[in-house]
Amino acid sequence: MTHGSSRRRAPRRTRTAITVAAAGALAAAAALAFSPTAQAADTLGGAAAQSGRYFGAAVAPHLGEADYESTLNREFSSVVAENAMKWDATEPSPNQFSFSGGDELVAYAKEHGKSVRGHTLVWHAQQPGWVQGLTGDALRQAMRNHITKVAGHYTGQIDSWDVVNEAFEWDGSRRQSNLQKQLGDGWIEDAFRTAKAADPKAKLCYNDYGTDGINAKSDAIYRMVKDFRARGVPIDCVGFQSHLASNSDLGTYRQNLQRFADLGVHVQITELDVGGSGTAQANVYRQVTQACVAVARCNGITVWGVTDKYSWRAQETPLLFNDSYQKKEAYGAVLAALNSAAS
Ligand code: XIL
Repeated sequence: MTHGSSRRRAPRRTRTAITVAAAGALAAAAALAFSPTAQAADTLGGAAAQSGRYFGAAVAPHLGEADYESTLNREFSSVVAENAMKWDATEPSPNQFSFSGGDELVAYAKEHGKSVRGHTLVWHAQQPGWVQGLTGDALRQAMRNHITKVAGHYTGQIDSWDVVNEAFEWDGSRRQSNLQKQLGDGWIEDAFRTAKAADPKAKLCYNDYGTDGINAKSDAIYRMVKDFRARGVPIDCVGFQSHLASNSDLGTYRQNLQRFADLGVHVQITELDVGGSGTAQANVYRQVTQACVAVARCNGITVWGVTDKYSWRAQETPLLFNDSYQKKEAYGAVLAALNSAAS
């Protein structure tokens, strides 16, 4: 008998003794385990997983901060780079790629068993200066090359990519970005086809804000997605950023998610944050979570940061953990809504 296996025997004896002594208590616990209360998970990621969903957070470079990292590790099952995978970060000069920030996040996710959303391949904002100056076919080639190289670099490692971000105006017209003006209406489908070739397995999403109900903007996006599905343009998901306030009207929020889901795409809440505090804020978080779990194809929620301290809307304290990483009322509301979907 090796030293190793004799060492393994000792804990087994210990466990047996504990099990015998605690048999009565265990029987009581077993009965409780079948009640919904006892099943409730005590982390966001764990609670979401009970109904097959992820619960994610946008991550900025604060992983060296102990409370930041432990909160992220414990609560979230998915991550997205708040900035590190955007065009200005990944291709600062033409065809010169810099993947360090994104690579770190993907390595972190792999090590901790979390899935990754990719954000974002093509957007009018946070473009490097050299892209802003391009016209016509040069811009088209730059866009295709960017998508091919970035989605190609991460191929097989991204659950869902925001291929195109924020291409519509409030009135449902196309945003008059450089992409729209230089390339015309076809640039969005061009981007999706290029992404499909570079990473055939990732879910490919269109992502936008102000789509928190049935309105002119979400109507226009709905028509585009319907058309893409009818013509076989590869689109798999629609992201609803959901940058909200305590008084946001969510009267048609669930219905809006459902009509997109009925087109056969997944829907995801991609950048949730709610300005405000206390019960009013918690109620908005609850409504959004309940809407997602009521829609079978709503497969995940991401909040746009871990702590109020580092939020892009820090003054509005819009997240689930306060500056000292304490759980806010909104946290309890989200956790309960996720758990009730599972019971
Ligand atoms: C924001 C980041 O949170 C900030 O750090 C950055 O300065 C600007 O961009 N919609 C999006 C996100 O799709 O990429 C934006 O993120 C917030 C709005």
